[in-house]
Amino acid sequence: MPRVKSKRRQQLEQAALLPVDWLEERSGLVGGVKYFLFRKVPHDTNWFHTLGSATLTAFIVQAVTGVILAFYYKPSPDEAYASIQEITNELTLGWLVRGMHRWGASVFIILLFLHMGRVFLFGAYKYPRELNWLLGVGLLVLAMLEGFTGYLLPWDQTAYWATVVGINLNATAPIAGPFIADFLRGGTEIGENTLTIFYSMHMLLIPGGLIALIGLHLYLVVRLGVTSPPWSKDAPGLEREEVVTAPRGLVEPRPRGNGAVPERDRVSP
Ligand code: HEM
Repeated sequence: MPRVKSKRRQQLEQAALLPVDWLEERSGLVGGVKYFLFRKVPHDTNWFHTLGSATLTAFIVQAVTGVILAFYYKPSPDEAYASIQEITNELTLGWLVRGMHRWGASVFIILLFLHMGRVFLFGAYKYPRELNWLLGVGLLVLAMLEGFTGYLLPWDQTAYWATVVGINLNATAPIAGPFIADFLRGGTEIGENTLTIFYSMHMLLIPGGLIALIGLHLYLVVRLGVTSPPWSKDAPGLEREEVVTAPRGLVEPRPRGNGAVPERDRVSP
C-alpha cells in the first residue's frame, strides 16, 4: 500500500522544492541536469567506464587546489621559491593543498591514459565517436602542456633544469623549433619572462582550453551515449541489422551502408 504523506510533510516538501521549481521555470536547467544524470547507459557497463569520470574528478581537484595556491604563490624569480616554502611550511594546511596539487597532477595524467586505454581497447573511438576521440587527443596535449608549464613554477633546481631540457627539446623541432623555444623562454635566456609566460599559460590559457574541450567532450558523451564493452552484442563497430530502439543518447547511431531508417523515423503508408 502506498504510504500516505502527512499534510505537514507535503507542505514542507513543496516549500523545499520552491527554489528548484523557480529555477526550472526560468531556465530549464533542472530538466537538463536530470537528463544528464538519469540518461540510459548500456546494461553491461562496468568499472572501466568510470575512468572518464575519475579523470574529470582529478581535473576538478587540480582546478580547486590550483586556485587556492594562486592566492599565495608569487610568480617572480625573487619570490617564487620563498612563496612555495611559505605555502608548504607556514600556511594552515598549505602542505596539504600543495601536496594534493603536486601529486594530483600525476594522478590526473595516469587516469587520463587509463581512460584513453579503455576507450581504445573497447573500440569506443569508432563510428560515431571519432570526433570525441579527436577532442580527447586535444585534451591529452593540453594536459601534458599543463604539467610541463607547472613544473617550472617552484623555481628550484629541478624545476629550472627540467625546463632547460624541455625547451631545448622543443628547439630541435624542424623549422618551427627555434621559434617555439624563443617564445617559451620569452627571449634568449630562461628568466623572469619565462616564469611569467609559463605561469599565465599554466593558470589561464591551458585550463581555459581544457575546460572548453571537456565541455564539448561531455556534450558528445551525452549526445552519443556510452558504448558497450567489446564482448557485448551491442559492441561498437559491429554490423547491425536493426537499430537499437531505445536511444541511449540524443541520437541513434545508424548502421552504415544499408540505408536502414530507424523505426521511430519511418513514415507509415
Ligand atoms: C581531461 C580529460 C578527459 C576527461 C575529463 C574525459 C571524460 C570522459 C567521460 C566522463 C566520459 C564518459 C564515461 C567514460 O566513457 O569513461 C568519456 C568518454 C570518452 N572519452 Fe574521454 N575524457 C578525457 C580525455 C579523453 C582522451 C585523452 C580520449 C582519447 C584520446 C578520450 C576519448 C573518449 C571517448 C572516445 C569517449 C566515448 C566512450 C564511449 O562512448 O564509451 N577522452 N570521457
